[in-house]
Amino acid sequence: MKTHKAFTALVTAERQRRDNFKTLLSAVLPRPIAFVSTISSDGVHNLAPFSFFNGVGSNPPAVIFSPCTKADGTEKDTITNLKQVGEFVVNVVPYAIRDAMNEASFPFAPEIDEFEAAGFTALESRFIKPRRVAESPVHLECKLLQIVPVGDGPLSANICIGEILCFHVADDFLLADETVDVTKIDLVGRLGGADYATIRDRFAMPKPSAPR
Ligand SMILES: Cc1cc2nc3c(=O)[nH]c(=O)nc-3n(C[C@H](O)[C@H](O)[C@H](O)COP(=O)(O)O)c2cc1C
Repeated sequence: MKTHKAFTALVTAERQRRDNFKTLLSAVLPRPIAFVSTISSDGVHNLAPFSFFNGVGSNPPAVIFSPCTKADGTEKDTITNLKQVGEFVVNVVPYAIRDAMNEASFPFAPEIDEFEAAGFTALESRFIKPRRVAESPVHLECKLLQIVPVGDGPLSANICIGEILCFHVADDFLLADETVDVTKIDLVGRLGGADYATIRDRFAMPKPSAPR
């Protein structure tokens, strides 16, 4: 197999946080996007995309995502809301809603309803207060289990761990075995900077029958 000569960047106190961020985002990809809806204790509905996101285990089924602390050291509305009301919905992001999803990433003031600001239709959830995005075909209703801070200050992570209480899959995208039809759903993932990917190009690899 081909091996590689390498550039090595040590993560020192001198290396710019922005450079660490850019190298990380260009190396760990494509990242799925959680379009997360939360609600404040005052009842304001909030929506924001997060690509530091993944599914982690199934007993119980769980997800993690990370709203980072802002460059000015303050917290994003999503994390404030989660501390007030420990519930959230992960809405998936198909290609058709990419522009409006991007608009919802604007740092709107906390009193702005971001469903209205970005032009999404809100659906009541079954078990929790935050609403679902009707234009998204899959919703995960989640209960916050824990917030794990990683570092402190600007750009530090706040890993939110959530237990999935309920899956909603739009009929058009549901297969007989209760999985999502990946050939139809046309989800997007995030690459570095302004770049995104689709999953229109796929390949299959059967599990190995025996180690080599
Ligand atoms: C596709 C995409 C993925 C993003 N992923 C993250 C992320 O993983 N963590 C983060 O802190 N911000 C991320 N952002 C930026 C947030 O969406 C943005 O800061 C947003 O204003 C946060 O909203 P809030 O203050 O309502 O929580 C992402 C933006 C986009 C467009």
